[in-house]
Amino acid sequence: MSLEPRDEGDHADWMEGKELTPIEETYLTVLLWLDKRLRIVDYLEILESLYYKVNMQLPKSHTEQYNLDNKFWYWYPLYALGSFSTIAYIVAALSGALLGFYYAPATTGDPTAAYGSITMIMTELNFGFMLRSLHRWSAQVMTAAVFLHMLRVYFTGAYKEPRELNWVLGIVLISLTMVFGYTGYLLPWDQLSYWAGQIGVEMSLSIPFIGEWVAQLLFGGFALGQATLMRMYILHVFLLPFVVTSLIAVHIGIVWMQGIAEPH
Ligand code: HEM
Repeated sequence: MSLEPRDEGDHADWMEGKELTPIEETYLTVLLWLDKRLRIVDYLEILESLYYKVNMQLPKSHTEQYNLDNKFWYWYPLYALGSFSTIAYIVAALSGALLGFYYAPATTGDPTAAYGSITMIMTELNFGFMLRSLHRWSAQVMTAAVFLHMLRVYFTGAYKEPRELNWVLGIVLISLTMVFGYTGYLLPWDQLSYWAGQIGVEMSLSIPFIGEWVAQLLFGGFALGQATLMRMYILHVFLLPFVVTSLIAVHIGIVWMQGIAEPH
């Protein structure tokens, strides 16, 4: 494709002898004006062929394949749970990014800066209570949806060959979803956070042989403090978002390549 401006003559024969409504005429005039300068018709054609290529790769839905148009497949809605998890994740990520502007990951002061920033978000920040509620609710909806999605995959036998890899990736995703939940739970640094953290330290310490090392690594020591909060914070707002977003993309990419499993 050359970037030379289009020749006037290129379009002349298009319109010849055609009766156009005013709307069609306006549309074509705008399209041709743009095309003459930016060759957008070529790009639209590239998009169109891409669209058909993608669609050819997509498998037929169960309804199409078995011609079930007029039948009510009662558990079809459960196939939406994976997308529902994704949407909940996106809402949590966006509301979390906004909360990040106001949250302070510090245990200094009395009440601590972390707890103080949460109180400020809830009582002073305009719509702060809404933002925080949106974040907590979407996080909990995501956890529930991911779990139900896993049940759907299990009970429709969709984990079987050739989808084992995506099942294993799913196990990693549900585990990371829980780590997301746990690290976030500690951030307000209130009584619930503090004692949940304490339980975490003690669970780590109960691991044979490497318990102390794990507690040190995950919680920054055997007693909760600034190091603990910082670890939770970085995991929650920096590492996990990158890792989980990438893994969800791979997970959905594999579904796209393999197609949805036929129910067994
Ligand atoms: C962050 C968590 C997750 C997200 C966002 C997610 C997203 C999705 C989406 C959008 C689909 C397309 C089909 C559908 O929606 O049902 C899907 C399919 C699938 N998921 Fe997940 N998923 C997650 C967790 C899991 C878990 C925990 C498992 C199992 C351990 C799992 C295993 C699978 C499998 C095997 C498929 C293919 C199913 C089929 O072909 O019918 N996923 N996932």
